[in-house]
Parts: sequence; C-alpha cells; structure tokens
Amino acid sequence: MKIGVLTGGGDCPGLNSVLYGILLKVISAGHSVIGIEKGWKGFLENKTKNMSNINEFDDLHTIGGTLLYTSRTNPYKNAKKIKNQKEREEAIKKVALEMTKQLNVLDLDSLIAIGGDDTLAVAAAMHKFGNANVIGVPKTIDNDLSHTDYTFGFWSAVQLASNTMDNITTTARSHQRIFVVQVMGRDAGWLTLFSGISAGADIILIPEQPFDFEKDIVEVLKERVSVNRKYHIIACSEGAVPTKESLERDFKTVIPEIIENLPKDDFGNPLLAKLNMSKIIVKELGLRTDLKNYFTQYGAEFDIRDVVLGHTMRAGTPSSFDRILGLRLGIHAANLALKEQYGKMVCLRGEKIDTAPLIEGTQKKLVPDGSDILELRDLIIQVKYKRD
Ligand code: F6P
Repeated sequence: MKIGVLTGGGDCPGLNSVLYGILLKVISAGHSVIGIEKGWKGFLENKTKNMSNINEFDDLHTIGGTLLYTSRTNPYKNAKKIKNQKEREEAIKKVALEMTKQLNVLDLDSLIAIGGDDTLAVAAAMHKFGNANVIGVPKTIDNDLSHTDYTFGFWSAVQLASNTMDNITTTARSHQRIFVVQVMGRDAGWLTLFSGISAGADIILIPEQPFDFEKDIVEVLKERVSVNRKYHIIACSEGAVPTKESLERDFKTVIPEIIENLPKDDFGNPLLAKLNMSKIIVKELGLRTDLKNYFTQYGAEFDIRDVVLGHTMRAGTPSSFDRILGLRLGIHAANLALKEQYGKMVCLRGEKIDTAPLIEGTQKKLVPDGSDILELRDLIIQVKYKRD
C-alpha cells in the first residue's frame, strides 16, 4: 500500500509526532508512506516525497512544526463563493471529484489528512462526493474541534502561554503596570481560559462571552486597586470582542464596521491579528482619565502595555503529553488506512483513542455555558478583590 500524508492549516506542536506514529506503523507493516508537502497545495501540485526509510526520521516525534510544511490552501475557495446554493453544491462536488481523482494521479491507495476543521472539511467532501479513501487526524492548538477530548498541540500552547504570563507578572509587579496579554484562539476560549487560570490572570476574556468594557474591565480594575492590588494581568483571547452595546457606548478607537469587515483567509476566517484586541483595550484604557484618577487616588501607577503572544504559542517543541498523544493518533490513523476503513477520523475519548465519522471533525467545540472551567475562572478572579 502507498499511504499519503499531508498537514494543513496552521502548524501545531505534535504534527511531527503524528507523522512519526504513522511512519512507525505503516513501515513496520511493510507498506510505504508518501509525504505530501504544503497541505492541499502540494496535493494539487504533485509535491510528494517517499518517506519509507524510517532511519531518516529518528525521534521525529520530539521535533516541533511539521516536516511536511503546511499551507492554508482551500481547493473549494472559488466554488464556495457561488451565491446560488444548488450551483455552489454542484461546484463543490465537481472539485471534490477532481480531488478524489488526484489520489490516482499521485498513485496513492489512501490519504491521511492531519489538520483543523478547514483541512478536514476538504477531506470530508472528497469522501462524501467521491467516496475517497481518506482518514482525518484532528489538529489545532485552539482545542475547538468536536468529538475529541483534547486536540494535540493544545497543552503545549497552554504551557507556553502560561509560562509567558507567569514571566510577565514579574515585570508587571516591578513597574506596577496593567498588562493585556493576547492569547491565540480565534473562535474558542480554551487556550485563554486554561493558560489564564494556570498563570493567575486577573481578568480573562474569551470569544464565547462578548465582554462589557465597563463592567468586565474598568470596574474590576477599580475593585482591585481599592483592595491595594498594584499590578494586573488581563488575558485576552484574540477572538474576544465587546458586546454590541459596550462597543457603541465605551469604545472611541474602533467602530463595529472594522470588526465586521476584517480581511479573511482562504477559508473565510477573519484575520484577527489585523484587529489586535489587546492593543485596542490598551488604547481605550489609556483614554479613561476617570480610571487614571481613581488609580492615583489609591496611590497606584496607571501604566498599561500589551503583549501579543501570537505565533510564539505554536512554536517550539511539543510537550510530552502532545508527543504521546500525537504518536497514538498517528498509529491509530495508520491502522485505519491499513484496514481500509475510510471516511473516519481518530480522536481522544478519556484514556482511549477512538474513531468518529470524518465529517464530525469539521464541527466546532466552543466553551459551553455553565462549564466548570468558567465557574473556576469567575471564582478565582473574584476572590482577588474580595475584602476581608
Ligand atoms: O487555528 C489556529 C490558530 O493558531 C488560531 O488560533 C489563529 O487565529 C490562527 O491559527 C492564526 O493563523 P495564521 O498562522 O494563518 O496567522
């Protein structure tokens, strides 16, 4: 068998671990692994390399990034722009059938796609329309994919963000500053919640709960200053936005149209780095002379900075957890390919690696209302400004 593998979307610690798991299993079973470079881009451009000499990849699972390179190429980009629903579906089907034929062009028996909801959606459509021999492995530091307890890469990114926030605390304390730390996570707040709680952040803003600038930031800072807190860490998810009411009432430096009309990537995701909510919060706080006066009244400095963690959160080596999880997912995905069980993805459920229909991997998992993690956040934050 010739089993193709590609990695698509943003890179993520643990991609090479999954790849190594696939190599170990497939090669030991006497079959070949064909690496496809730069995700769907390389798939369409016939960019392949034979990876069947395992000696070349010793300890690959310990190395960050992806040996196969990645891209955010969406083969359905033009088809998806078609307004008429019937015509759009027909166009998507046509591309999916061409993509399925490409498996033959590349002389592959099957393909394992490692990626987030966008990459998996491309593979799922190939399976739906072309009955293609595809298997998925869900990936994202954001941990926002359904049907898997954790995606690999998440805990590495949590640790990186938590370490940075720990470190920022010493400089915040020295200068008695407010630091707004922007954490990755476009649609879901998992990363910001887990790293923020872990590092003892004082305010934690996530995309699932639009914030009220006055109530959730200004009032909390006032409460904190009044109980003699002299420095403050605000963990802000890059996808966090104010409520419509707060945006219109409290914000002077940004208008709703800017947030609504952000440029988008190939898959239609807003490029949040262009918005930079942490910078907006810093600017808005800086304009609040009432808040400054309040701080002065309590003898506190009113000095505000922002730090955007950005792509540093995806960089570096995977944690041990993600290495092991990646290897296990890789071995199980290879198993599916060897048993010719297609249209599935592998996932983590409790202690076990399980499978789910590939299409399920395209669904988002957001932080649900009533989650114990939200309760924990609120308790931990409120206790910091409780009086005796
Ligand atoms: O989806 C993972 C992610 O890291 C998001 O948290 C972030 O918004 C996005 O990728 C950034 O993408 P890019 O690497 O294209 O800037």
